Amino acid sequence: MIELDKVTLKYGEKEILKQVSLTVRDNTIKAILGPSGVGKSTILKLMLGLIKPNSGRVLIDGADITRMKESELYTIRRKMGMVFQGNALFDSMTISQNLGFFLRENLNLPENEVIRRVTEQIQFAGLEGYENQLPESLSGGMRKRVAIGRAMIFKPHMILFDEPTAGLDPVSSKKILSLISTLRHNNNLGAVIVTHIIEDVFNVADCVAVLYQGEIIFDDVTEKLHNAEHPFIRSILSDKILEL
Ligand SMILES: Nc1ncnc2c1ncn2[C@@H]1O[C@H](COP(=O)(O)OP(=O)(O)OP(=O)(O)O)[C@@H](O)[C@H]1O
Ligand SMILES: [Mg+2]
Repeated sequence: MIELDKVTLKYGEKEILKQVSLTVRDNTIKAILGPSGVGKSTILKLMLGLIKPNSGRVLIDGADITRMKESELYTIRRKMGMVFQGNALFDSMTISQNLGFFLRENLNLPENEVIRRVTEQIQFAGLEGYENQLPESLSGGMRKRVAIGRAMIFKPHMILFDEPTAGLDPVSSKKILSLISTLRHNNNLGAVIVTHIIEDVFNVADCVAVLYQGEIIFDDVTEKLHNAEHPFIRSILSDKILEL
């Protein structure tokens, strides 16, 4: 479980997050919805301990990571997979090499176990036949699937997605969202999906927190978003704007 407890974060003088509290439970897909530049990626960086808040706590399974040393953080981060907005694949490595890279670097697994896990992710992500290709020869949706496979290869408890459908066509977006749903059901996995696309929320999220001007203005199950009273949420819903 991930908890932000009254987290305030400033970049210089600019207060990005103002006493933000939110919880992501295990085996739940939680969306964090908000307009561009509001601080969504910043929240993911806080959850991974890549940046520290000015005040407040970030708890992973009850442990406050804002006070941890780098060596302790390393263990915590291994419980979590991260899928970056730009995928962060290695351009000069094949798909199989990309999938196996962090396993080979970080775990002392026998090579046949690495190959077994890479093959498992290739099959799961529907990438058979592309094992020896470079990322540049794949479509955007396929590259996203490689990034998801690479995040899953450590068998995390929780996976964090930064704008998983941004820049994808509608069909590829649907495929990525259904892959995320399948992952959750097959692996008892929790997920955080940061997005500015409201359709993603209705398609895949069990619950949603809306971040607006540094504050959480809604935090509940997705169905209740339709009844939210905050003017900003009403305007998104009534104008039927799909993107914030
Ligand atoms: N390292 C940094 N130093 C200073 N300002 C930063 C830094 N990182 C982000 N910001 C600013 O903080 C704000 C929040 O950034 P963040 O990347 O978290 O937003 P976001 O909601 O993910 O936006 P987007 O939808 O564009 O991805 C933005 O105004 C951004 O310019
Ligand atoms: Mg961002």
